[in-house]
Amino acid sequence: MTETPQSSPFSRRDFVKAAGVTLGASALSGVSVPHVFAQGSDQLRIALIGCGGRGTGAVVNALSQACKPKLVAMSDVFQQKLDNSYKSIKAKFTDQVDVPEDRRFIGFDGYKHAMDALRPGDIAIFTTPLAFRWVHFQYAIEKGLNVFMEKPVTADGPTSRRMLAMAKQADAKNLKVGVGLMSRHSHAMQELHKRIQDGEIGEINMLRGYRMQGVIGSAFSEPWPGQPSELLWQISRFHSFLWASGGAFSDFYIHHVDHLCWLKNTWPVKCHGVGGRTVRTAPGGKPWVDQNFDSYSVEYTFADGTKMFLDGRCMNGALPLYSSYAHGSKGMAIVSKNGDCGRPSSTYKGQNPTKENMLWTSPDTKIPDDPYFNEWQDLTDAILNNKPYNEVERGVMASVVTSMGRYATHTAQEVTLDEMLNHEHEYAPGADKFTMDSPAPVVADANGLYPVPQPGIKTKREF
Ligand SMILES: NC(=O)c1ccc[n+]([C@@H]2O[C@H](COP(=O)([O-])OP(=O)(O)OC[C@H]3O[C@@H](n4cnc5c(N)ncnc54)[C@H](O)[C@@H]3O)[C@@H](O)[C@H]2O)c1
Repeated sequence: MTETPQSSPFSRRDFVKAAGVTLGASALSGVSVPHVFAQGSDQLRIALIGCGGRGTGAVVNALSQACKPKLVAMSDVFQQKLDNSYKSIKAKFTDQVDVPEDRRFIGFDGYKHAMDALRPGDIAIFTTPLAFRWVHFQYAIEKGLNVFMEKPVTADGPTSRRMLAMAKQADAKNLKVGVGLMSRHSHAMQELHKRIQDGEIGEINMLRGYRMQGVIGSAFSEPWPGQPSELLWQISRFHSFLWASGGAFSDFYIHHVDHLCWLKNTWPVKCHGVGGRTVRTAPGGKPWVDQNFDSYSVEYTFADGTKMFLDGRCMNGALPLYSSYAHGSKGMAIVSKNGDCGRPSSTYKGQNPTKENMLWTSPDTKIPDDPYFNEWQDLTDAILNNKPYNEVERGVMASVVTSMGRYATHTAQEVTLDEMLNHEHEYAPGADKFTMDSPAPVVADANGLYPVPQPGIKTKREF
């Protein structure tokens, strides 16, 4: 918990330093696989667990690498999701997809079968909602597999502590683990990070992040229609349920939390926040039953007193804003111009980001710098060349800091990092034992409503 992003033994920064340069795609071609990894063949094999939008995208990023990995197994809890994903990947990478019917697994135990199709040193991709991250990671460690897992990785204290312990187990087995906080793999942001460390804008004294847009994803939900099962329905609308995803706050805002803390090289120690839900009735007259607020404004405090402000909103018709900023004693930086880590990043003297004040801007957006591709380049390079690589600890800490902001707003209390990490409420207990017939972790009342946060009333738990 005391580890900072930079002091982590396997931070991206150390990796880049150790490598001297970031390897280009061509530098990886022809590299043979050390025997300790991907035993039995030079071609890395991949299993996809969670065949939705991001899972399909992650496989595309993986198969696009110069070392040409092969997709050999897939698993999901919905047949249709797996079928759609398979078709779209197969159409693009015919020769790198070998997933016959008997290596396509539907169900909550499908992850085991999919990983059983790999050899030690191959790669398992975890792109389900976060509730299953620790379950899948545990099995991957047991099987000696390298992993790419999507963010966020936890939503509560118990699973965060569990994942931190697992990160150590993965290290002990020399496994390489990437976490989908891709900002840190954007070359523009890496250059910005370096410039800030070198003092270009002075001492950082304020950070700001905004993700404000209309209603997106599955953040707002009308009552469960009665099928599929309540559990499967909640999984399909995971942004609505804190147990599944950490809600809109964790799922949507974690990238800004992660990259702003990276620029500061540490995590905030406490926060408080304000927020609420303006409308709880859907346009057709049914109630919204999800557990989210529509607006969040969180003030984080670092140990040295520096503040980080994070504003999030899901509201149609309201001002959209999706960018992040760092302010220092000599100047400021636009960190993400648009989106989670959208170029260009730039630095300025003074606090006004005008053309005249500009000190540096990252290269033209026409120059390729796709952080989703880069994170796979870095992971496969670490696997093929046996470099230390484990992003789990910082993935967990970014998740805990994000959860801390959400929890503080939902309870209307000041919350410390220690309190969040050591909280005893587990949101999806027994996620490793779910079957298609299991009850959902939160069950609707007679009116179809679920427990929602009540700031100032429920102060020891979020729901
Ligand atoms: N890094 C990024 O920028 C980025 C972007 C999008 C999504 N994500 C993350 O990726 C994850 C998935 O998001 P998505 O948009 O792809 O959602 P999605 O709903 O499209 O995909 C999730 C898939 O996982 C499946 N699934 C759920 N539980 C499962 C289980 N126990 N076993 C097997 N399969 C299961 C679902 O049926 C679904 O097909 C989320 O954690 C999200 O935050 C990250």
